Amino acid sequence: MTDLGGTPRDLVPVFEGFHGMKAVQTSPLYEHLNTAFITEPELAAALLAAPPTERLPLLLFASVHFLLRNAPAEGDAALAAYYPSLGGSRAPDSELTGTFREFTTRRDTELRALTSTRVTQTNEARRAAMLRPALTAAQKRAGDREIALVEVGCSSGLMLLPDRYGYRYDQPDGSVLEFGDPATPELLLQAVVRGDKPVPEWLATPLRIASRVGIDRNPISADDTEQTDWLRACIWPEHLDRLARLEAALAQAREAGLDLRRGDLLDLLPAAVAEAPRDAVVVVVSSHVLPYLADADRTAFAEQVAELAATRDLMLVLNEDHRFGRVFGVEAPGSAGYVAASFVDFTAGDFTAAEAPTATALAKVDPHGTWLEWL
Ligand SMILES: C[S@@+](CC[C@H](N)C(=O)[O-])C[C@H]1O[C@@H](n2cnc3c(N)ncnc32)[C@H](O)[C@@H]1O
Repeated sequence: MTDLGGTPRDLVPVFEGFHGMKAVQTSPLYEHLNTAFITEPELAAALLAAPPTERLPLLLFASVHFLLRNAPAEGDAALAAYYPSLGGSRAPDSELTGTFREFTTRRDTELRALTSTRVTQTNEARRAAMLRPALTAAQKRAGDREIALVEVGCSSGLMLLPDRYGYRYDQPDGSVLEFGDPATPELLLQAVVRGDKPVPEWLATPLRIASRVGIDRNPISADDTEQTDWLRACIWPEHLDRLARLEAALAQAREAGLDLRRGDLLDLLPAAVAEAPRDAVVVVVSSHVLPYLADADRTAFAEQVAELAATRDLMLVLNEDHRFGRVFGVEAPGSAGYVAASFVDFTAGDFTAAEAPTATALAKVDPHGTWLEWL
């Protein structure tokens, strides 16, 4: 595998940037290794096989994790001992960097085969607790009619299963709003409500889902072990609760037999909307996808959704950086980038008249799905 240019030293600013992120503290293993990369970037040389935009420590970490999980070789046990996800219990210590160096040198070819072809991918079921307010708003608007979910950038489609999760919102006054029927205890999604406004009780309005279609340029079938193992490898080794939730959610996706389509969202959305059951109200969902689009494609997506809304009753649910919400007419307070659960209603009155859409930012939400703040 040939390198795509550059030297390990070029990667140092990326490692420094990762070092400054709060999230890295939730993985003592990755924090320790990333700190070592800053002084010894050669440890991460396998990243040079990746295109420059993909040279992120998390790609290397996921690739190492994948090899340890899926293709363990003689000599790997010393490194695996540091991975709680693999049954290890050794805390990072002075031998970790040397053990990592030995692993990456010995398995360099296999590592580069991964870093040159993969990108990190996540599908966190807990984000469904962030989407739920806007989905329920769409259901309330649809009234007795069913909703047809079309998710763009669906990954393995876990946001298409909102009726299979339970929800627990810990309100600011200490009370709890809990509803839904989780298939297993791992699928009770818990979120803390920050600020002083409680989330309203109408969130518990049941959803009536007619159909579910997901679109992704790289969809992950819950039946495909190789693909889902990459999702598992992308979870940080200490995050055992996330791993358990992913397993439980993937089992639901398998049971639901989701219709996931491969391709660019701009190419596939019109057919997915047109094919939705005739009497249903289409709800297009976009969660953590817009950062991947070029500015022009984001605008094209917004125009396309508006055009499709002229062909049938349609609403849009966003779980995206609030700056992107503006492309869809959603104005949320504040200037810093944060994710907002937003609801855009392209329908009007009794659904027969087409008017300017109403766009509402409902909440500021945590990208990982642990808290939200009602606006
Ligand atoms: C961060 S994941 C989000 C997955 C899921 N929506 C969630 O919230 O957990 C972003 C997904 O968008 C997909 N994606 C990015 N650009 C796309 C495009 N132009 N067309 C289709 N899918 C795209 C990626 O392949 C990836 O699976």
